[in-house]
Amino acid sequence: MNDINWGELSFGYMKTDYNVRSYYRNGKWSELEISDSEQVTMHIASTCLHYGQEAFEGLKAFRGKDRKIRIFRMRDNALRLQASSRGVKMAEFPVEMFERAVLEVVKRNERFVPPYESGASLYIRPLLIGTSAQVGVKPGNEYLFMVFATPVGPYFKTGFKPTPYIIIRSFDRAAPQGTGTIKIGGNYAASLAAGEIAHEKGYSAVLYLDAKEKKFIDECGPANFFGIKNNTYITPRSASILPSITNKSLMVLAEELGIRVECRPVPVEELATFEEAGACGTAAVISPVSRIDDIEEKKSYVFSSDGTPGPVCLKLYNKLRAIQYGDEEDKYGWVTVL
Ligand code: PLP
Ligand code: COI
Repeated sequence: MNDINWGELSFGYMKTDYNVRSYYRNGKWSELEISDSEQVTMHIASTCLHYGQEAFEGLKAFRGKDRKIRIFRMRDNALRLQASSRGVKMAEFPVEMFERAVLEVVKRNERFVPPYESGASLYIRPLLIGTSAQVGVKPGNEYLFMVFATPVGPYFKTGFKPTPYIIIRSFDRAAPQGTGTIKIGGNYAASLAAGEIAHEKGYSAVLYLDAKEKKFIDECGPANFFGIKNNTYITPRSASILPSITNKSLMVLAEELGIRVECRPVPVEELATFEEAGACGTAAVISPVSRIDDIEEKKSYVFSSDGTPGPVCLKLYNKLRAIQYGDEEDKYGWVTVL
């Protein structure tokens, strides 16, 4: 049995029992293989190591009050991995196999799915890498798909407590016609330097502006952004941000709660008009934003000065969590019960 202190978990890696793998060779994916090894052996000239042929996903499984395990919107993650694969010219992993692989990983690591009361979850990380040996810059013809899982707590240490973000104009995460809309390792590599500066200064993350004009809000390093004003949920539409499945879900839930939804370019100055703001994503869930500092412009936008999340963030957070943990009916068919 485990002696894991579920309530104290942070967002980190913990060894679990099994992972699942499939190999693409001669134009075909192999049947899923179960592995208990944490290691991957590959050729020194693999395309993932040199030219960034890599894409990944992140989704979660939750244990309900009824002890049943629920996986949130895995089909959407399967489809996004396919989009990412097309973006860096990798073989696409079939949706049906992706779903089977995720179910297999969760089942085999069931003892790591945190109990309902802990508020923690099992984070599932599918990834796809190019493994053909080549030195010319061109797409490979061999790939490896893997899924592992690890129990996690909140992405930002404070959990559902507002934290500050920073605007930094001297770094871009992704270009308008680049790879921002897909989930590939390169985007995260490009965000590390600015992310470190933000952390050193005490911020949770960077809030990136559009790379071309620096006029509009893009997203945070690891999550989408939204602002709330006049009972309206406002989130950026941009050619360089990841289409977040959490954001997409929150837009549906907001409408259900009688909150208007706007997905459109959001000028930086509009920050001054928001009553609340948040970062949203699988890892971040909703991480309320206390303040955004625009250091170069010497401006500070404050959304919470008393350390508590705003009422709309709270309503949306509770609604999303209720569906994920099975406290509320899954009327949109987002949840797969194991
Ligand atoms: N934006 C970025 C850059 C991310 O890494 C993530 C995390 O996956 C998100 C947004 C949120 O996406 P999702 O809600 O699908 O997890
Ligand atoms: C996620 O929310 O799943 C992410 O991938 C964000 C971050 C951990 C990269």
